[in-house]
Amino acid sequence: MARPVRLLMLCLGNICRSPTAEGVFRARLADAGIDHVLVDSAGTSDWHIGKPPDPRSIDCARRNGVDIGGLRGRQLSQADFGHFDWILCADEANLRDARALRPQDAHARLALLLPWALGGDLERGRAVPDPYTGVTEDFDNVWAMVDGAARAAIASRAWERAD
Ligand code: 4NP
Repeated sequence: MARPVRLLMLCLGNICRSPTAEGVFRARLADAGIDHVLVDSAGTSDWHIGKPPDPRSIDCARRNGVDIGGLRGRQLSQADFGHFDWILCADEANLRDARALRPQDAHARLALLLPWALGGDLERGRAVPDPYTGVTEDFDNVWAMVDGAARAAIASRAWERAD
């Protein structure tokens, strides 16, 4: 196996957007036969530590053929900045909160997930909108955005970029 690359998907609660991103990236990487890119997820808050993803996210993923029911919430820690190569944030607030926690000697690079994955192709926006107070359509929208991001990131090998 090539040297592993470690990606951490980050959102606020770690029960909607980032576990969805973890599940879809794992599935698309497996589809592409890429086994040296490892994916985890976390939240900036401590609100859902140890909890499974939101049932609406589990259901959305299941309808799209991906099982995220076994994932459990955890909070971003300073140690994550040493362990991961990229910490990929769902929105600007997540990015700001992660920057505030980032140690001086951090190894991990921080980026917004969609710009990182899609490069200049940002017709649908830079942030993955928080679906928590929304409806099924909002969860489907998260899925579509994150699935598009996974496919684009894999096609461009986004994790190999130097920026
Ligand atoms: P996530 O969504 O950041 O995509 O996991 C949220 C989940 C829970 C809450 C907010 C956003 N909450 O307020 O508990």
